[in-house]
Amino acid sequence: MKISQKDIFTFQKEILDWYHLNKRDLPWRKDRDAYHILISEVMLQQTQVSRVIPKYEVWIKVFPTLESLAQASSRDVLKYWSGLGYNRRALYLHKFAKEVFERYQGKVPADEKVLLTLPGIGEYTGRALLCFAFDKQVAVIDTNIKKVIAVRFNKGIVPEKKDLQEIAQALVPQGKAYDWNQALMDYAGAMLKEHKIPIPRQSTFKDSDRFYRGQIVKALIAQPTLSQKEIANMFEKFSLPRERLEKIILGMKKDKLVKENNKTGALSIA
Ligand code: ADE
Repeated sequence: MKISQKDIFTFQKEILDWYHLNKRDLPWRKDRDAYHILISEVMLQQTQVSRVIPKYEVWIKVFPTLESLAQASSRDVLKYWSGLGYNRRALYLHKFAKEVFERYQGKVPADEKVLLTLPGIGEYTGRALLCFAFDKQVAVIDTNIKKVIAVRFNKGIVPEKKDLQEIAQALVPQGKAYDWNQALMDYAGAMLKEHKIPIPRQSTFKDSDRFYRGQIVKALIAQPTLSQKEIANMFEKFSLPRERLEKIILGMKKDKLVKENNKTGALSIA
């Protein structure tokens, strides 16, 4: 699919003009610190902006630097993540911080291939870091942006990955990638809200493994160790079959979210 230069310029102007009028003063837009960017982008992958702002601000006060995060306990990391969901992402951030100290003297690498070898870094987060922290002129594509590109340039159909990346990259105004990607994120969010294009939501969260895992983590933040019996008691109110609970705990051990005491069988944060 070929898009003309004229269409590209028109779209760029429209988005940048819109951003000029509608730009939000978000805390992670105050600096280009790679660690701050990383925390905000991982939080924003799963949670809406208004809910991320207070969590982000507290997090940055408690763990102001990558080093402070590397030195924190997993329990504290999960404590300050609580409410955001997907606890594994918090542990990946923790692991990321430690590895950057072990492998790169505490400096976040500015190379896409290297970033992708670090814990928790996928294509989206890698590119967000490259652009927002290191001012690389790359397209950052989240699910909202994908939809805007589909609506605007491909009759509402989300293009194949390679085509999508090609289009998104062709749209980046060279030298202005930071503003461009931030603008497109805000614009895409606003446009999708206005046009009620459905954004897939996690369904029946209250009976998902993710929900139950969250409950267990929350209990282990409040009380550092719990016997499996105590957990089972706590779960009575959910009337969850025992096998399902056991499977969930097994999964959490595998993911190194919790560990089991060899002697007592009691669980704690890994
Ligand atoms: N969603 C994901 N990243 C974002 C950002 N940097 N600003 C606003 N919304 C976002």
